[in-house]
Amino acid sequence: MDAAIGASTSTTAAEGARVPVHVAIIMDGNGRWAQQRGLPRIKGHEQGAESVRAVLKACRRSGVKYLTLYAFSVENWVRPKAEVEALMNLLKRFLKSQEHELHENRVRLRSIGRLTDLPRSVRRELSRVMKVTEHYREGNLVLALSYGGRTEIAHAARRIAEEVDGGTLRPEEVDEAAVAARLYAPDIPDPDLVIRTSGELRLSNFLLWQASYAEMYFTDVLWPDFREEHWMRALEEYARRRRRFGDVEPRS
Ligand code: FPP
Repeated sequence: MDAAIGASTSTTAAEGARVPVHVAIIMDGNGRWAQQRGLPRIKGHEQGAESVRAVLKACRRSGVKYLTLYAFSVENWVRPKAEVEALMNLLKRFLKSQEHELHENRVRLRSIGRLTDLPRSVRRELSRVMKVTEHYREGNLVLALSYGGRTEIAHAARRIAEEVDGGTLRPEEVDEAAVAARLYAPDIPDPDLVIRTSGELRLSNFLLWQASYAEMYFTDVLWPDFREEHWMRALEEYARRRRRFGDVEPRS
């Protein structure tokens, strides 16, 4: 197996525990949470935003440097117009209300996805908060918005084709590193751990390239109920895993 594929897990001296550098989350179950309570779906998304706040705190406390959240997929645009609008408004409100916390904890906001699909007002707010936090390095919050793994890989393939066509790239130079370098955020390390809530056992077009060697953690907890204790359980499970990356002995 490619020697470049390696564990980015870090060990905190204090606990001796293996802590993932990058955790990515498929936040699922907002609709069901609301339905169970006889509430409109948007109430589930609103409560889901509370889980995001709780997880951001937990993430910081546990020393995880990158957190990627699947907030809206390329497929989600087919949802009822009112739900899409409500989600976009929620996102704007979240960005405004979270800005202070990002500054205080020196967390950089980033985003991946087909951002041109987003309403202009969301793009404006997103760009603004990304700009004012771009110099922070304590942590990274990455929002996947209008994101699809296949779309991302197809986009990278198109860029490669254009460069080959333009004579700036030779076909024999097209390898894994060349593709990886043309993804949305090539400098972000691959996720070590992917969490999916609500009992669904799928990747649903999330980080298809980057999650090749990620550990998967599934929980029945619905996203709006997900709190620090559930986060800690996922990290404890991750610490017990032995990652071999195709080798015979664990690498971390
Ligand atoms: C999946 O649950 C969730 C989404 C499509 C949206 C995720 C959005 C949030 C958690 C809101 C806030 C996010 C940020 C970053 C502020 P679902 O609606 O598919 O649930 P279901 O499968 O139970 O119907």
